[in-house]
Amino acid sequence: MSSVQPCGVSDDDRRPPVNDLLEIAQRGLALKPKRLPSWLFYDERGSALFERICEQPEYYLTRCEIALMDEHAESIADTLGSDVRLVEYGSGNALKTRMLLQHLHEPVAYVPVEISPEPLRQSVVRLAREFPPLPVQPLCADFSRPLRLPIPPRAPRRTVVYFPGSTIGNFENREAAALLRKMRNEMGDAGGILIGVDLKKDHALIEAAYNDRAGVTAEFTLNMLARLNREIGSNFELSAFAHRAHYNRMAGRIETHIVSRREQQVKLGRLNVAFREDEAMLVEYSCKYSLADFAALAARAGLAVLRTWTDPAQMFSLQYLVRASTVAR
Ligand code: AVI
Repeated sequence: MSSVQPCGVSDDDRRPPVNDLLEIAQRGLALKPKRLPSWLFYDERGSALFERICEQPEYYLTRCEIALMDEHAESIADTLGSDVRLVEYGSGNALKTRMLLQHLHEPVAYVPVEISPEPLRQSVVRLAREFPPLPVQPLCADFSRPLRLPIPPRAPRRTVVYFPGSTIGNFENREAAALLRKMRNEMGDAGGILIGVDLKKDHALIEAAYNDRAGVTAEFTLNMLARLNREIGSNFELSAFAHRAHYNRMAGRIETHIVSRREQQVKLGRLNVAFREDEAMLVEYSCKYSLADFAALAARAGLAVLRTWTDPAQMFSLQYLVRASTVAR
C-alpha cells in the first residue's frame, strides 16, 4: 500500500528493506569474481561525492548534458508538447531539471522519483520555491521497480519519463532493456522518454572521466566499503583497497573495480571473506553507446528514437523515445 507522508511525499513501501544489506554483501562477495551492486555508492556521503565528480574537469558527461539542455531546451519542450506530466527517475541534478521545467508548456505535474527521502525532500523544497504554480508530486520509491504514480491534478496530454545523466549506462544490456520496457508501460501509448545517453568516443577521454586527477572518483568508489563498515559492521581497511576504472573496448563500457592491494581477510557478519593480492571486485559498469547501439537497445524495448540532440563532437546525447508502434514507417 502507498501512504502519504506529512511533507506530501508518496511513500511507495515496496522499496527494498534496508536491513538485508548484510545478505546482499555476503551474496555478492561469494560470487566469482566478487561483485557488489553500484547502488551501494549512494549513501549521503556517496551522493555528495557524486555531485563533486560532476564538477571535475575530466567528467565531461554533466557539462555536455547541461550545454545540450542550454542550447536545446526550447526545441525539447516543443517536441514534448503541452500539458505534460514529467516523471523524473532519480531526483537528479536540479540544474538540468530546472532548465527543462522553465521551458515546458503548461506542465501538469512534476513527479520526482527517488529512493532516498532526504534528497527528495530537498529537491521538492527547492522546486516549490522556484516554480510556485507547478504541482510537485514526489514519490519515494526505487525507480527500477514498478511504480504507482500519484494521481495527477488534471489529465495530462502525455506522461514523459525524464532519465538524465546516462544512468541507463549503469545497467547491463538486458537490464537496461527491461528498465526501458518498464518506462514504456508507465508512460502509456501517448507518452515518451527523454533520456541522457553517453556516446562512444576516444577511449582516453572516457577513461580519464572515471580516473580524475583529484581522486574524487576513487574516494567515491571506496566510500562503498566505508558504508558497509558503518551499516553492517564489516571491517574493510580502506587503505588496503584501490579504485580501478578501465574501458573495455569490446563491451563498450567502463568497468569499475575495487582491488585488494594485498592478501587479506575481511569480516562480514559471521563470514570471513578472503581476498588475494590484486583480486578485483566489480562495482559498476558505465556503458557507452553509438547512436545505432542505443536505437537497437530502444527497439528491444519496443521503442523508437523520435529525436536526438547532440553536440558537434558527439560527446553526449539527449534522446526522445516513443512507442515504436506509434511511429509511421
Ligand atoms: C550515475 N552514473 C551515470 C555515473 C556514471 O558515469 O556511470 C556514476 C559514476 N561512477 C563513477 N563516476 C560517475
